[in-house]
Amino acid sequence: MSPVILPCSLRDTVEKHNQAHLLKDWEQLNDASRTNLLQTLQQIDFPEVSRLIELACDQSQGDALDLADRISPLQRVVRLPESDADEKAWNQARQHGQEILDSGRVGAILVAGGQGSRLGFPHPKGMYPIGPVTDRTLFQIFFEQLLALSNRHNISIPYFIMTSDATHDETEQFLQEHSWFGYPPSDVYLFRQGKLPAVDARDGKILLSAPGEVAMSPDGHGGMLQAMKKAGLLEQMQGRGVEYLYYHQVDNPCASLCDASMLGFHVLQQAEMSTKVVSKRSADEKVGIVAQVDGMQQIIEYSNLDEKLAGQVDDQGRLDYWAGNIAVHIFNRSLLEKLTQADQKLPVHIARKKVEHINADGEQVSPDLPNAYKFEQFIFDAIPQAANPLVIEADRHAGFNPVKNATGEDSPETARAAMSLLAKKWLEEAGVKTHPEAIVEISPLVALEANDLQTLTLGVQQHEREVLIVPDDDSCE
Ligand code: UTP
Repeated sequence: MSPVILPCSLRDTVEKHNQAHLLKDWEQLNDASRTNLLQTLQQIDFPEVSRLIELACDQSQGDALDLADRISPLQRVVRLPESDADEKAWNQARQHGQEILDSGRVGAILVAGGQGSRLGFPHPKGMYPIGPVTDRTLFQIFFEQLLALSNRHNISIPYFIMTSDATHDETEQFLQEHSWFGYPPSDVYLFRQGKLPAVDARDGKILLSAPGEVAMSPDGHGGMLQAMKKAGLLEQMQGRGVEYLYYHQVDNPCASLCDASMLGFHVLQQAEMSTKVVSKRSADEKVGIVAQVDGMQQIIEYSNLDEKLAGQVDDQGRLDYWAGNIAVHIFNRSLLEKLTQADQKLPVHIARKKVEHINADGEQVSPDLPNAYKFEQFIFDAIPQAANPLVIEADRHAGFNPVKNATGEDSPETARAAMSLLAKKWLEEAGVKTHPEAIVEISPLVALEANDLQTLTLGVQQHEREVLIVPDDDSCE
């Protein structure tokens, strides 16, 4: 076998961009490591990374200071119904959404490439067992929701699932082992997001995690656009007649996929992108908000909204900036296509993070403080580029119970408790009584919302204080 050669043009590029240290171990590497390094270097867009390094070094903290003059409350927003007229509008939207679903023009996108470091689960987060009674995984909940919807509407709903190098193989193997939870494999598209290098914050040098191994990390959920383009998925969507894409994240078991009311409002109000929000629990809740900035709808991260703005209230004492982003969106396919064009790319966010690496002497360094810049794109930056962006409010208890942290707020414990409480409420509305301390889980194959329970003969399995609502032919494991 011929030895792995480093092309001169690549060496020139690396040196020109002041990153020659990446090649210092080249002579000592074996062929497998050389191949690996070569592939990584060929993936890096060096002029773009140099631009980002320059930006990172010049980064000013001005945004938070300027925001007060530029921000104003949301304008295009559909709030939860409060009056008969509101109820009528929601029913109309829901009806319209059902018709859109019937027409088979809807697909779903799941972003599942994150490293889930806060949760500390040693597998892709979608494999986390979250069902309060059955330990159903997050993946199973989503697949069963889509299965129920596609059966109900007699359609197929293509499911585009973004993974990363960190999550791809295990995700694929897990889904295969579980036969895609009964979902047609031809309707599932796994695609891998790109990566960007981490850079030493002191001198702008790209970090190595081991000799000949560049410290790379996923390029953020906004990396979805380029990854989809690269995998030819926009053409697949077009070929399948998909016009609307329901986007959700892997950590929210209550994401209510392809929700008909949201879909209906999105289409009726001719939005190119819609965002689901919930009312913030309190002024200081750590959640991004949607507001107008310079007259354009935009998401502001909680760290960029100072205490005064976060606490600002209207003349009835309600928070001006109440609309917490729960990362559920609907995109028109045409918007996704537009955003993959070279001149329409999403901005890149720069964050200081702790990154393990080897130093110039080849010693392993585990920093105690943030030492590096990491670069990511955020999908919500698409909002200012969308025509008629719309915001739709959801009930917080029903729609947003994320699994972010190992313990405390937004943890498996809080998500399970909320799921059980919601299931109990649905049962109560259907006239089924449960013990006050019962833990309840409803299979998405039985009900996607409270109303679905009214019309069914329920397979109720009660074991001591655990209640499981399953399809009639299912069994409690
Ligand atoms: P988070 O911002 O919560 O990040 O991702 P995370 O990596 O999952 O968790 P932490 O911050 O390390 O604890 C929100 C959603 O975006 C996806 C995640 O999988 C999750 O669904 N995501 C995030 C990606 O798909 N790719 C990324 O590069 C980052």
